[in-house]
Amino acid sequence: MTDLTLLCGQVLTFSGDPFVTSWQDAVHVDSAGGVLIRGGLIEAVGDASDLRKAHPSAKIVEYGDKLILPGFVDAHVHYPQTGIIASWGKRLIDWLNTYTFPEEMLFGDPAYAADVAGRYLDLTLANGTTTVCSYATIHPTSVDAIFEAAALRGQRVVAGKTCMDRNAPDGLRDTAQSAYDDSKALLEKWHGKGRAQYAITPRFSPTSTVEQLEALGALWAEHPEALMQTHLSEQVDEIAWVKDIYPNARDYLDTYEMHGLLGKRGVYGHSIHMEPREMDRLAEVGGAVVHCPTSNTFIGSGLFDLAAMKARTIPVGLATDTGGGSSFSMLRTMAAAYEVAQLRGVAVHASQLLWLATAGSAHSLHLQDHIGSLKAGNDADICVLDLASTPAIAYRTSRATDIWEAVFPTIMMGDDRAIADVWVNGIQVAPAT
Ligand code: GUN
Ligand code: ZN
Repeated sequence: MTDLTLLCGQVLTFSGDPFVTSWQDAVHVDSAGGVLIRGGLIEAVGDASDLRKAHPSAKIVEYGDKLILPGFVDAHVHYPQTGIIASWGKRLIDWLNTYTFPEEMLFGDPAYAADVAGRYLDLTLANGTTTVCSYATIHPTSVDAIFEAAALRGQRVVAGKTCMDRNAPDGLRDTAQSAYDDSKALLEKWHGKGRAQYAITPRFSPTSTVEQLEALGALWAEHPEALMQTHLSEQVDEIAWVKDIYPNARDYLDTYEMHGLLGKRGVYGHSIHMEPREMDRLAEVGGAVVHCPTSNTFIGSGLFDLAAMKARTIPVGLATDTGGGSSFSMLRTMAAAYEVAQLRGVAVHASQLLWLATAGSAHSLHLQDHIGSLKAGNDADICVLDLASTPAIAYRTSRATDIWEAVFPTIMMGDDRAIADVWVNGIQVAPAT
């Protein structure tokens, strides 16, 4: 018996950020590569035949010309919105009031929360996503549900209790004090337990009082090891509302900064309609933004300015934003990111899209030393892509003259049928059929 496993196939690795150096220098595909796994970790990445020779007892898993890459990292999701994904006809605030808040109300029932959390993680695993950063609901049990479901599956998950003490319906509001107390208790219970990571989670400025933002800012100062996630500048109407209720703030980002909620481990979802000051300040502080392109088109929010963010070296993650986003698939999400950038006149390369969906998201969550790239010492969270998963994709790929031309049709047209295999923490997860 051996606890060594060698995955052989085309292997994708990164040696840098393809938005900073050229993608040719930063992203590599070894057509006869190998990834050696021991326990839950990657032990080595290199030439498959060298690794075979050096480790003759390793169990071999042969993937041929399939692409072995890091498991996808979805940097902004709402797992409780699984049941209302693809709800018709509303823009952000109406969408929240009509579909989202009534559904989130149900998560006071631990059995309901556990059922949705399990379903959600299975759906994302079937799409090759091995880590998500999720909002829960205001109910502490909804946080327990997602961390417990993740632990059952051996998954690294980031999550936090969503805090709201105004502009939300009865039954879906906490208070400044209870948000602080519950978030603190959950953080102390879960952060660093197994693979769980806690994110302090004020939903967004309109649903928190100044007192609540201050209380959560204080909690973050006491626990700087935690992440802090929230929403920023998603829709024009929302920004006007924020101006109205925070008249002293210089801009939307300032509503967080004024209350101790701007920092390097801050993760700001959407960040579409940004003032130059907001981008400069984020760059200065090192906070990350998360691009949610299927959500931004579905809810009609706007076109994220990827080039402006990367020009300022602001860390950018990529995310589905389930269920504002209309898909669980990071392939579909990369396709939407490509389309949104095209509408802004920028053609994002396939290697850059793959980087955003893996290492870029991992960096935005400060998890790059654990996930998001295939390198020795990282967790063995791995996705294997079939680059010919449908007749249309297979035909297009058969005409490709290099690996990037072969990968791009799967990014643009692929779905869960392209997910040939998934490994979580060194354990093979049977892909859904
Ligand atoms: N802004 C505040 N809450 C939400 C949410 O649940 N989804 C999206 N897309 N935006 C939000
Ligand atoms: Zn969101």
